[in-house]
Amino acid sequence: MSQTLQAVRGMNDILPDEAEVWEHFEDLVRDWLRSYGYRPIRMPIVEPTPLFKRAIGEVTDIVEKEMYSFEDALNGEHLTLRPEGTASCVRAAIQHKMLFAGGQRLYYQGPMFRHERPQKGRYRQFHQIGVEALGFSGPDIDAELILMCARLWDDLGLEDVRLELNSLGSADERARHRADLITYLEGHQAILDDDARRRLYSNPLRILDTKNPDLQEMVEKAPRLVDYLGADSVAHFEGVQAILRDAGIPYRINPRLVRGLDYYNRTVFEWVTNRLGAQGTVCAGGRYDGLVELLGGKAAPAAGFAMGVERLLALWHESGGQAEQVQPDVYVVHAGELAQRFAFRAAEALRGYGFAVLTHCGGGSFKSQMKKADASGAQLAVVIGDDEAAAGLVGLKPLRGPGAQQQITLDQLSEAVAACLYPEEGDEYGSL
Ligand code: HAM
Repeated sequence: MSQTLQAVRGMNDILPDEAEVWEHFEDLVRDWLRSYGYRPIRMPIVEPTPLFKRAIGEVTDIVEKEMYSFEDALNGEHLTLRPEGTASCVRAAIQHKMLFAGGQRLYYQGPMFRHERPQKGRYRQFHQIGVEALGFSGPDIDAELILMCARLWDDLGLEDVRLELNSLGSADERARHRADLITYLEGHQAILDDDARRRLYSNPLRILDTKNPDLQEMVEKAPRLVDYLGADSVAHFEGVQAILRDAGIPYRINPRLVRGLDYYNRTVFEWVTNRLGAQGTVCAGGRYDGLVELLGGKAAPAAGFAMGVERLLALWHESGGQAEQVQPDVYVVHAGELAQRFAFRAAEALRGYGFAVLTHCGGGSFKSQMKKADASGAQLAVVIGDDEAAAGLVGLKPLRGPGAQQQITLDQLSEAVAACLYPEEGDEYGSL
């Protein structure tokens, strides 16, 4: 026997019980996004590799070690499975001149790919719901993005999600801070670990984000970017906080929140929980005013965030979130050739009226089919034998409540089903 094949490590199948929870969650999320005026956009999963190198930054973990990049065997193009959605979204907005029409509130969802070490809450194929507001410069949109998240946590009944906030200022402010930070870190060369040494001149800000306990004290005392912010950046940051305070959203300013992607400036934020172990960031984002121009568009401000669907669902599950019950209204059982043809007609007629119908497939006795009907969770069975079919009749049998099987014509079926399922709604369904 040949060896069974397995999914790629870190890439998960989502089986029906779980997939139903995903769909329920996605429905809630779509309604929530609409209620804030965000519109869907769908981008390809594969993009030219230079897009991510330029947008995310050459000296980031994602670009240095986590991208699934390959050369197209047919034309030699350098391609990458998207590790995130912001770069693609901005690329699409530029390519289709969307910003000429003014500000755009957009969202996308789907799989992202990063070659990380898999563990609970961290996968190589994971899913994001991303939200991008392109063309808005004020602190109001930053606050809107954060308020949206707070509302979704509330709608989902999530507990223990807290907001961490920081400002990364402008490129100039970061440059001045960076110079002082490098000088400071050079003074501590002896204790730097390999990672920190490697990043000393390429991405010193990321050293502040180190998890190495031996570096914590040194990092605590390092020059802080917040102290380098100019008046405009401070006013912007204040503006965001004023709206958050008004809305009663608690937050903590975390001066060491720097994010792992290079495109950010000014406001950055993360929603974090302790309930999921090490991978506790369920949602993250911020402002990225330079990215549109960096990717070749006419300069335009922008801000956004993305949430990790696997992490959010794990948290939702902890807080009692569940799939909506997906069960058929009717299960159609039939025995005989004529009966089978009539069964298909009856089922299609019912579906035409909006009922969810499972038609028995695979034959078997009435008794074994009725067992399947019962197990399906359907409220009603439609029962058809060859004799009934010849007379144009079907049997309608309640599977859950009281009531005997009735014999009716196909024309009467939808009304009879409606009467059984929604007895309080009268004869709204009419007859076929
Ligand atoms: P990010 O922080 O790299 O930001 O990812 C956002 C979220 O995706 C994380 O907070 C986490 O919940 C989830 N996530 C990331 N990597 C994994 C993984 N390996 N397994 C499971 N979940 C993961 C971005 O991607 C930016 N594009 C966000 C953004 C949008 N900023 C502005 N607009």
